[in-house]
Amino acid sequence: MAEYSRRTVLAAGGALAALGALGEPAHGRPAMEWTWAPSSSVAKVGGAADPRWVWDAEADPISAALLDRGDVPNVNKLLWNWVRNDQPLPSGLPADLRDFMENARKLPSWADRAKLEAAAEFNKARGFYLNLLNGVGGGMLSTAIPKEALSVYYSKGGADMEDRVAKTSILGFAVGSLNAYRPDGNCIVNAVKTRLVHAAVRHLLPQSPHWKGDVPISQTDMLVTWHTLPTYAMRKLREWKVPLTAAESEAYLHVWQVTAHLLGIRDEYIPADWAAAEAQSDQVLPPNMGPTREGVELTDILLGQLAEQTSPGSVSRPLVNALARYLVGDQVADWDRIPRDPIWTPAITAAWPTLVKFREGLVSKPLVPEVAWALDEAARQYILFYLTKGRETKIDIPTINRPS
Ligand code: HEM
Repeated sequence: MAEYSRRTVLAAGGALAALGALGEPAHGRPAMEWTWAPSSSVAKVGGAADPRWVWDAEADPISAALLDRGDVPNVNKLLWNWVRNDQPLPSGLPADLRDFMENARKLPSWADRAKLEAAAEFNKARGFYLNLLNGVGGGMLSTAIPKEALSVYYSKGGADMEDRVAKTSILGFAVGSLNAYRPDGNCIVNAVKTRLVHAAVRHLLPQSPHWKGDVPISQTDMLVTWHTLPTYAMRKLREWKVPLTAAESEAYLHVWQVTAHLLGIRDEYIPADWAAAEAQSDQVLPPNMGPTREGVELTDILLGQLAEQTSPGSVSRPLVNALARYLVGDQVADWDRIPRDPIWTPAITAAWPTLVKFREGLVSKPLVPEVAWALDEAARQYILFYLTKGRETKIDIPTINRPS
């Protein structure tokens, strides 16, 4: 880590430790009480059990058994070339895994092909905003979720954030691609693989000497992260006044509902509509967000990568910091210890709305301030970088926690 990073982290760690905030729910807020009307979910029934104490009853025993039997390296090898939604599973998989996967890869009965197609078109048309929001925005929000930051930090991928981010972006780009849920797409494949990865993490992390607390990645935890993706993105699109039709926003929700199902979120907790999603987000996010030393370190690594990977001089770290701060807001940016930049921060706040208007054809080019093009370029380079990185790797099941 660069000297700058170490200082940032140490300073943050000290301040947070003084607050007693490390790894705890934000500012000692009382644990939430679970209230959820069954009619708010896609299942329309159930959902009474507090999702904090529900994990993934189907996937968890499978990944645990694979790990205990030492099957994972061979399974990863076999699944490496399982890449298309319509592709039969490779032969040679253990029978319990095969049975699980055959079931897990099925779309839910409530999946609507027409809506999935509409979502794909929407993702294509709005890819610029959505990749930025789900990538940079979602990434920065996730480091301000203590349980997620700790899970990521102390699991295998925590030691190699570049690989980890590349792998995570595989699913993000899969959801946003035109053929996401078509036979030649790969969203089902990557969601099912991710479900197995999460199940493996539930088995592995409690064995880590650094891990304190309950089994990670509960249904609540997954819902929290889910809301930092579609719910957060939709709020931002509305805030930025990006023109949206009702059919587009419904389709966008739908593709994420189906993805939630394939990731192992139970139908009884998946919000049925945007009103339910907003309400659930407001219920589960605040008590599950806050600062951690690990989250600060991960943020620093992520933003450093983003600044470094682009051609020298074109996207500077202060610009990346300011863009991230603009996307997640001051509260989360302060938790993540993203520095305020005296020049870029006000410049982005002023320029972004005009850039959006220009992209939407509402203002002409001469009215767009120069700084907006730097932002536009930063966002493009970010998207390109992770698209390329994501193509170099595949999601596989970890066998160890963070090695150091
Ligand atoms: C792995 C996405 C929720 C912690 C992954 C991967 C993806 C992903 C695509 C595979 C990439 C990789 O292996 O590094 C998602 C999505 C979620 C979600 C879309 C919710 C909708 C969560 C939550 C936690 C979590 C709630 C923790 C509280 C992890 C960890 C790994 C992982 C620790 C494996 C890291 C490793 O060992 O390399 N996730 N995730 N995820 N996820 Fe999630």
